[in-house]
Amino acid sequence: MTTTKPAAVEVRGLAKHYGSVVALRDVNLTIGAGEYFVLLGPSGGGKTTLLRTIGGFHKPTKGSVLLHGQDVSHLPPDKRPTSMVFQSYALFPHMNVLQNVGYGLKVAGMSKAENRERSTAALEMVGLTGYGERKPHELSGGQQQRVQLARAMVLERDILLLDEPLAALDAKLRKDMCLELKHLQEKVGITFVHVTHNQEEAMTVADRIALIADGDLVEHGRARDIYRTPDRTFTADFVGENNVLSGTVDAVDDDIVTVRLSNGKTLAADRREKTVQPGDAVSLSIRSELVQLATDDPAPDAKPGHSLGGRYHEAVYLGLTTSHMVDVDLGHDMVVRVVGEFGLEPKKDEPVTLYWRPGDLRLHTD
Ligand SMILES: Nc1ncnc2c1ncn2[C@@H]1O[C@H](COP(=O)(O)OP(=O)(O)OP(=O)(O)O)[C@@H](O)[C@H]1O
Ligand SMILES: [Mg+2]
Repeated sequence: MTTTKPAAVEVRGLAKHYGSVVALRDVNLTIGAGEYFVLLGPSGGGKTTLLRTIGGFHKPTKGSVLLHGQDVSHLPPDKRPTSMVFQSYALFPHMNVLQNVGYGLKVAGMSKAENRERSTAALEMVGLTGYGERKPHELSGGQQQRVQLARAMVLERDILLLDEPLAALDAKLRKDMCLELKHLQEKVGITFVHVTHNQEEAMTVADRIALIADGDLVEHGRARDIYRTPDRTFTADFVGENNVLSGTVDAVDDDIVTVRLSNGKTLAADRREKTVQPGDAVSLSIRSELVQLATDDPAPDAKPGHSLGGRYHEAVYLGLTTSHMVDVDLGHDMVVRVVGEFGLEPKKDEPVTLYWRPGDLRLHTD
């Protein structure tokens, strides 16, 4: 497919310092028009700074921001094709819902009748038809969040910037609202850039995800690829529930890398496109749901290089799933996640074997 449409957002060599604090180092990022893009990462990593710089609330220290191919680095927020949903509700308490939604249009000088029409349509879009006369305090948290969304959407900009839009909601409501946001974005077809530190939320809504940590864009890709095939150790650690094991390369044999762990045991991993030499410090990761737990010794399906022996530690029952913790002499337990409960119920300190399919263990060289 060839397309000449410029990217909705292009960030080039972006750095942002607050005095001596380096909030962003050298971020390069392209977000396509109509994409649902998520900035994901731990607290203090620089997500809000990046979003606000895209929206024009911060000036870059270095680098530039292009929106639809136009350099907007020196334009104020209201001159950009963006609107922003802030983390706090930030609704005007003395105005009713309709007035809150129409506030931006009023400031822009739109006639009362047209303002009312557009604001009513925006409320309908977020499922709040009939709530226009209420005051913010007469709404639930999720409804207030939707009013905020309507207030940003009513401006009919091409790019919606959402900073932790669901952070104040309880788990159940957050899940529902996640899907609503996703469907809304699909319906209106504009570009969404959504900041969160919650990886489940990110996975639910995102077409693509960028991991932001410590001022760097660590890795970005399609949501599913970030989950299934993380490249960096940080990503493996932050997304999903990975067992991350550090070790040293023992041998490289064509496409198989043998890694020695601190407990003296060795594991085999596919090299993929990585360049490694014996002696290199590397890490390995495997998702907890891909690890099998067996109490037979030896476990019939466990293959050398693709299994570890250990002692059973404990079960953490989480309802839908159970996490089995196993001490493999690495200073931290490995986790095996199963749906429901594990039929055999090993006893504490009972010898067990953990094993996995050869391709499922990932090698990281960062
Ligand atoms: N106005 C400011 N002055 C000085 N330092 C700031 C300012 N705003 C943010 N920082 C610092 O910049 C870094 C990045 O902050 P930012 O708010 O972008 O992180 P974040 O990823 O959004 O975090 P959170 O998930 O907690 O919202 C942090 O170290 C923060 O302390
Ligand atoms: Mg933030």
